[in-house]
Parts: sequence; structure tokens; C-alpha cells
Amino acid sequence: MNCIGILTSGGDAPGMNACVRAVVRTAMAQHLQVKAILQGYEGLLKCYFQDLRARDVGGIIQKGGTILQTARCQEFYTTEGQDHGLKNLRYAGIEGLIVIGGDGSMRGALALHQRGFPVIGIPASIDNDMWGTNLAIGVDTALNTIVEAIDKLRDTASSHKRAFIVETMGRHCGYLALMSGVIGGAEMIIIPEVETPMEEVADTIAEAYARGKTHAIIVVAEGAKYNANQIADYVAQHAPELQTRVTILGHVQRGGRPSAFDRLLSARFGVQAVEALMGGASGEMVALTGREIVTVLLEEVTAHKRGANLDYYRMAKMLAK
Ligand code: ADP
Ligand code: F6P
Repeated sequence: MNCIGILTSGGDAPGMNACVRAVVRTAMAQHLQVKAILQGYEGLLKCYFQDLRARDVGGIIQKGGTILQTARCQEFYTTEGQDHGLKNLRYAGIEGLIVIGGDGSMRGALALHQRGFPVIGIPASIDNDMWGTNLAIGVDTALNTIVEAIDKLRDTASSHKRAFIVETMGRHCGYLALMSGVIGGAEMIIIPEVETPMEEVADTIAEAYARGKTHAIIVVAEGAKYNANQIADYVAQHAPELQTRVTILGHVQRGGRPSAFDRLLSARFGVQAVEALMGGASGEMVALTGREIVTVLLEEVTAHKRGANLDYYRMAKMLAK
């Protein structure tokens, strides 16, 4: 193998740049040529190729987002789109591909592998909804961002005796809401994995005040049955004596400088991915298991869904008392 390609796809995640840097520098150490494919699978279909050398990835280790840009690409869901992508990879002289992205991006990578093209995936998604790895790139940074926001909201909440309903990202998975609720000391956590009737929210706030609390933080995952505004409206109608405020954290959670943990994880994933590709592996994703970096089959990764660990849910309920 003389030339490998690299792309970032799906939602950006802090640490993607540190990972691109690690891939390029590892490849250089092995005398491999690296071509960036800009804008994910969309760029693959449009032949947005660009040579990447060691100096091109200087000064990016600390930057959020992705210098390769990312996109979502409808056409790549189709077999025609995937065949077209494969043709473009061969036309560019790319012999192996590294895909950095979330669950959907891994499905795209698997499609290329199944067409006989060597591909290794690297998990990157703040949602931490990917099966097979304890953590994906970006999760730690996003959690730190959320917890910092919760700490700030707590200052104003306690000053006014208010309940703040804080909405986090997480389309299908409550991981971010659950973990930030645990480490941010939330009184209540609402996630898609646990059915929570709205009346429970008003009851929980009232009980917290009865126990002497001066405020309440309720963390809601974006993918939960009811969103933060619906919950606040319900409380306003049924328990108007409880003052609530809503904060939707939104895309601020996806940006920012990657944490030390995310930079290290990105570097380790990047090195391992290039070494796996060079060693002849394909159809695999690098993953964190315990403290080790391992590889897992993309077929396995994409066949399973990962939900939040409900042990933490029970723990949060107890610690909120
Ligand atoms: P993420 O990778 O962050 O989960 P998406 O789910 O939007 O983000 O996926 C990113 C892109 O990966 C999609 O826009 C599409 O181009 C490609 N993709 C997703 N699912 C598939 C699939 N089943 N087959 C082929 N490509 C896919
Ligand atoms: O990256 C995953 C994620 O952050 C989800 O939690 C969220 O629903 C989605 O991306 C929003 O992405 P976009 O605004 O880019 O479509």
C-alpha cells in the first residue's frame, strides 16, 4: 500500500483534528502518501481530494471541529452512490481508507469494505452511541462543556430558587444527559432509555424543595420523549408555583478545544488505525476497551445499538437526595 485516504463524516467532534494529525504523521513514518477527502462522503462523490503532508497538520491538535470538513450525504446511502465512491477512490490512486465519524459513517465504511475496498473506522461522535467502544472521540470534551454550563446555571438557579431544565444533545442515546447529570449533581435526568411521565418532574422539584434544596437541575436528553420546552410548559400549567427556566445547550456542545483525554484518545486511535490498515486489516473499527485500544468488526458495530448504562441512572437518583 502506497497511498491512503482519510475523511471525517457525520457530526463533527472535538478531537477529530488531533486524530487526523496522528493518522498523517503515522502514515509519514511508514512512507505512505496521504490524501484527504474533504467533506466526508459528499466530497468523495465530488472528488474533493487534497494531498496531506506532515506540515499540513501542524497547529491543529488543539482545534475543535475538523479541518477536513464534514457533511451528511444522501447519495452515499444508495448502492449507486457507494459504487461511485469506490470508482473515485480508485481514480485518485487511494488504496486504503480511514473513516473518522459516528455510527452512520461506520455504515458507509462497511459498505466500501463489502465492495472489497480496505477500510478502517475511527469512532468520533459526542453522543457516545456507538457500540463496541467505551468512548468515542469528542465525548469527554462535550461532557466537560455540559458540566461547565450546569455549574453556571446552578449559580443563578440557587440565587432565584428556580428549577432549570437543561437539554443536552443525544439523538437516540441518553449518555450525555445521564453522565452530565451524574457529575453535575442533577436532581433529575430524563433520557430516551427510561419512560418518565411529565408529572414526575413537578413532583421531583417539589420534593427536592421540601427536603431543603434551594434549586433544581433537570437534565433532558434531546432524544427523550418530551423536550425541555414541553416539560417546562407542563410544569407551568400544573405547578405554576414552581419557577422554571429552560436552557438548550445545542451545538455549543460540539465545539471547543478537545480535552487532554480526547487528544490522547485521538492520537492512540489514529496510530492504531494506520497500523491496522498497513497490517492488512479491513472492515474494522479501532475501539477503547478498558485501557486498551483494540479493533472490532464494523459488522458488529453497526449491528448493535448502544444505550445509556442504567446503573448510573439509579446512582444519580440516590445521590440526588
Ligand atoms: P454519524 O456518522 O455522525 O452517525 P450520520 O448518521 O449522519 O452521522 O452518517 C454520516 C453519513 O454516513 C451519512 O450522511 C451517509 O452519507 C453515510 N451513511 C450513514 N448511514 C449509511 C448507510 N447505512 N449506508 C451507507 N452510508 C451511510
Ligand atoms: O453529532 C451527533 C449530534 O450531535 C446529535 O446529538 C444531534 O442530534 C445531531 O448531531 C445534530 O446534528 P446536525 O445539527 O449537524 O444535524
